[in-house]
Amino acid sequence: MFLIVGAGFLGTYLIRQLSAQFRGPILATVRDTASVVPFPKTEYVAFDVTDETDVRRLAKRCGGGKLTVFYFAALHNVDYLYTHREEGENVNLTALARFLDAVPGIEKFFFASTDCVYGENAPGSQKFKETDECKPINVYGAQKLEAEKIVRAHGFTAVRFSYMMGPSLTKKRHFYDTLEAKLKAGEPVEMLDGMVRSALSYKTAALLLAELSALPAGVLPDTVNLCSDGAFTKYDLGLKIAADCGVSPALVKKIPESAGEAFFKDRRASRAVMDNARLKALLGLSHIGFEEVTRC
Ligand SMILES: NC(=O)c1ccc[n+]([C@@H]2O[C@H](COP(=O)([O-])OP(=O)(O)OC[C@H]3O[C@@H](n4cnc5c(N)ncnc54)[C@H](OP(=O)(O)O)[C@@H]3O)[C@@H](O)[C@H]2O)c1
Repeated sequence: MFLIVGAGFLGTYLIRQLSAQFRGPILATVRDTASVVPFPKTEYVAFDVTDETDVRRLAKRCGGGKLTVFYFAALHNVDYLYTHREEGENVNLTALARFLDAVPGIEKFFFASTDCVYGENAPGSQKFKETDECKPINVYGAQKLEAEKIVRAHGFTAVRFSYMMGPSLTKKRHFYDTLEAKLKAGEPVEMLDGMVRSALSYKTAALLLAELSALPAGVLPDTVNLCSDGAFTKYDLGLKIAADCGVSPALVKKIPESAGEAFFKDRRASRAVMDNARLKALLGLSHIGFEEVTRC
């Protein structure tokens, strides 16, 4: 059985992918069952990972059969974590450790980590590889790095995602949807000319993760970067949304990266671009684009 813990934006794309690609049943946890959309073979359960009773109930529900778990539950708002560090530790570390100790039968476990664990690419440096030293520059990156250690101690896999975006498949709005609505209304949107990331769409991320989950447990590495070949600024991503909506790119206004300092509380890397060679070798891919992949 597939178990998706924290089926939000990425989780719902993954449910769509898994339900189309595989036969196995999918159990997905959400905090608010009113926000879900139905998919074949998928059952949703209300679940808060910080609630020990919920964890015990979920462990019982899974019944000890072989599980492939995708663990997305997290507090991940960079600025919220800066001001709510302890709450973050409770959700992102304590609850994760308790979950791993409590749920039996886990054969494969994919933890959603982030490029933020690496910190910042020095000017002119290579893309971040899984073997590089990690030097996070914000609370979010530091907590994900600690969480990775818990995951590795249990023998499982930390998947380091780059920035992902796309239209929400749930009833909750993503930032993408907000920008799309503005652009479609003919309103300009301002996007930072910086914060370069090897971003990819939720759809592509879900496809890659589903393929990773089909590999035998024995070949799964303890860490893998999951990202595109590209390097996109926020402004580049704004242009992509404008193209998706069929509106003029002139509606996307470039603002300097330094403007972010006016509204960010914690630090953001100016550049955090990852190397995806390990992922490509595992999946037999020659190219990973924002929206598409090419097989060898
Ligand atoms: N989006 C990105 O660009 C990106 C990049 C790198 C890594 N990631 C990681 O990828 C994962 C999925 O992100 P996403 O983009 O799909 O965002 P998301 O929809 O916000 O996913 C996070 C999920 O965690 C759930 N959650 C939060 N606290 C919980 C708790 N106490 N108990 C149970 N569930 C809880 C949220 O539920 P509610 O909806 O009820 O809050 C949500 O479903 C996250 O771990 C994130 O750190 C995302």
